[in-house]
Amino acid sequence: MSILVTGGAGYIGSHTCIELLNAGYEIVVVDNFYNSKRESLNRIAELSGKEFTFYECDIRDAEGMDKIFKKEKIDAVIHFAGLKAVGESCQKPIEYYDNNIGGTLTLCDVMRNNGCKKIVFSSSATVYGSNNVSPLKETMQTGGTTNPYGTTKYMIEIILSDIYKSDNEWSICLLRYFNPIGAHKSGRIGEDPNGIPNNLMPFITQVAIGKRECLSVFGNDYDTPDGTGVRDYIHVVDLALGHVKALGRALSGNTLDVYNLGTGTGYSVLDVVNAFEKASGVKVNYKIVDRRPGDIATCYSDPTKAFEELGWKAERGIEEMCEDSWRWQSQNPNGY
Ligand code: NAD
Ligand code: UFG
Repeated sequence: MSILVTGGAGYIGSHTCIELLNAGYEIVVVDNFYNSKRESLNRIAELSGKEFTFYECDIRDAEGMDKIFKKEKIDAVIHFAGLKAVGESCQKPIEYYDNNIGGTLTLCDVMRNNGCKKIVFSSSATVYGSNNVSPLKETMQTGGTTNPYGTTKYMIEIILSDIYKSDNEWSICLLRYFNPIGAHKSGRIGEDPNGIPNNLMPFITQVAIGKRECLSVFGNDYDTPDGTGVRDYIHVVDLALGHVKALGRALSGNTLDVYNLGTGTGYSVLDVVNAFEKASGVKVNYKIVDRRPGDIATCYSDPTKAFEELGWKAERGIEEMCEDSWRWQSQNPNGY
């Protein structure tokens, strides 16, 4: 059983590759290294003790992708490749629509032409927009996204749903991730952002290692227990294991499914800072600043559906997420 993993050199993709190899799947990875390093592939091989095939290819390159499908017998695709920075997407909407939507359309066209119609897609809690009240359930309305990145995820969900409606030989699983943090237990793979991190945990770990002076906490006047934003942080290894379950479902039938992958528990920014300090023994210098435009007060999942239908639930708590993020950062102060 051979699984194509697009964006497999990236943060979530690399952790998922390991869990797929551990589960006995053969994998073929495609990445263009736009936001990742080749070294992550060496480490996937090292940690899993298994070989796999890799192609450096842009998923928008229809000819290149077609050659890969002709050469490898691909049974299903897990599709991570895309651009993911909310702020940058507001500056570069053309690049975001081109890469995320154009890339997905090209991929699906090549898949169809080669008779491969099973796909697991990286969606995001961002598709719920800002009007729903947490805990967020899959049945809630989506849309009302506030930035081009979020809109690409929303639009791709619609595109994939339309593809399924047109031809229900497809099997499509949309996974709405909440906030992935943490790293593989070994400290050998983890999140390696370029430049100044946008997300909370890589910023915290870079302050702790001394690469940045101070964490800016974006607002403490939200309607939350301590006034700072509340999110559903999920360990990246739990997220990776969710993909293995989702893949099993996609391979076993012809369905269109959507699942939240979160823990169901919300933590505030200050909760995360405190948990990190406890796990690492390092003090994190922070200051309260203005709210970040576009942020909402609270966002956490109801993960019941993934448990009932996939038999998946997140097992790793906030302490472990912080310990593992810190092990990765402290063992790899400059990333890969
Ligand atoms: P990442 O940037 O680490 O990984 C994405 C990978 O895709 C990178 O290795 C990049 O080089 C590759 N890539 C990008 N465009 C490509 C293209 N056109 N052709 C081939 N490869 C390409 O990001 P991640 O955090 O691992 O996220 C993976 C997916 O999950 C993305 O689609 C992202 O939008 C989605 N997601 C991430 C989060 C998060 O907080 N990390 C939350 C929700 C959804
Ligand atoms: N935060 C800070 N300081 C920082 C960074 C973040 O206080 O330097 C706060 C934010 O205001 C927010 C929380 O920490 O309250 C989490 O922020 P992140 O940027 O880590 O994550 P978001 O919830 O804003 O965004 C994430 C992903 C998006 C995805 C969204 C919804 O980065 O891709 O979840 O799923 F769209």
